[in-house]
Amino acid sequence: MTLKLAIITPGGDAPGMNAAIRAVVRASLREGWDVFGVYRGYQGLIEKDIKQLTHRSVSGIIHLGGTILKSSRCQEIKTEQGLKKAVSTLKELNIDYLVVIGGDGSIKAAEKISKYLPVICIPASIDNDVYGTDETIGFDTAIDTAVEAIDKIRDTATSFERVFVVEVMGREHGFLALSVAVASGAEVVIIPEIKYNLDKIAKKIKQDKQKGKSSEIIIFAEGAGNVEEFALKLETKTGIPTRVSSLGYIQRGGSPSARSRILASLFGEYAVKLIKERQKNKVVVIQNNKIYHLDVKTVIANEKQIDSHLLSILESLG
Ligand code: F6P
Repeated sequence: MTLKLAIITPGGDAPGMNAAIRAVVRASLREGWDVFGVYRGYQGLIEKDIKQLTHRSVSGIIHLGGTILKSSRCQEIKTEQGLKKAVSTLKELNIDYLVVIGGDGSIKAAEKISKYLPVICIPASIDNDVYGTDETIGFDTAIDTAVEAIDKIRDTATSFERVFVVEVMGREHGFLALSVAVASGAEVVIIPEIKYNLDKIAKKIKQDKQKGKSSEIIIFAEGAGNVEEFALKLETKTGIPTRVSSLGYIQRGGSPSARSRILASLFGEYAVKLIKERQKNKVVVIQNNKIYHLDVKTVIANEKQIDSHLLSILESLG
């Protein structure tokens, strides 16, 4: 039976989203289904900004960052009225399945839509904050981007014998910060999940200095508080010049790493397999290198935990 699918990429864009769109479109066309792209995320769904996608629509996009479907931060979808409008767009076009490629917030909205129409979600976010999946699309690229920038910051930190506090994204979580800290050989990581002790950090930095250490990199997750205030307090306690560098949106952009592209292709193909089996309201996940799926309800009802092993590695090496 011919199915009609709509694909949407709401919320923060993540490198590899285009590779996921490409995979879903191509695998669906192979099944003989019709595929529609929803532009500008949930706002576009409410405003009926939808076009049919073809094999050609997704040519030459696997290497592109961002999302060809565009995105938005849509508050209206959180209201009953917005949800109704979004659902009526899908019903009007006789869409059988909505494929949502996005992060935590997008999956929460998808769960609401799932009460009216089957959804399949593909986790994509630089934050890696989706429960049940070891990795989200774009996470690997964002780590690479941040590490490349921090390697450069380390040069100045060493030359000037300064402390650098590097702020990374991640919303309310420290998944990105922790991985970036391990990969860049940072001395300290500050994440929202763990309360920090400024006196202890200052003591460590002073001891490092006495031992002849010429630079200190502290990775500070944006959700952990005010980075400028933190740096000022630390400088006052250590007497060592301390600078802040916020990496900002460069972490979200850029060409996806090979790993993000492969993950996106695997997720996209698997999403279509789920639809072929007429599974409903699932989130595609990767656990211990195996692609699998969970119920949307399970994913939104649980909080992902920080990897304590990674944290202990940072403590013992940094
Ligand atoms: O979810 C991705 C993310 O980049 C977060 O790390 C960050 O907190 C947020 O989006 C920024 O959102 P906006 O694009 O609305 O400024």
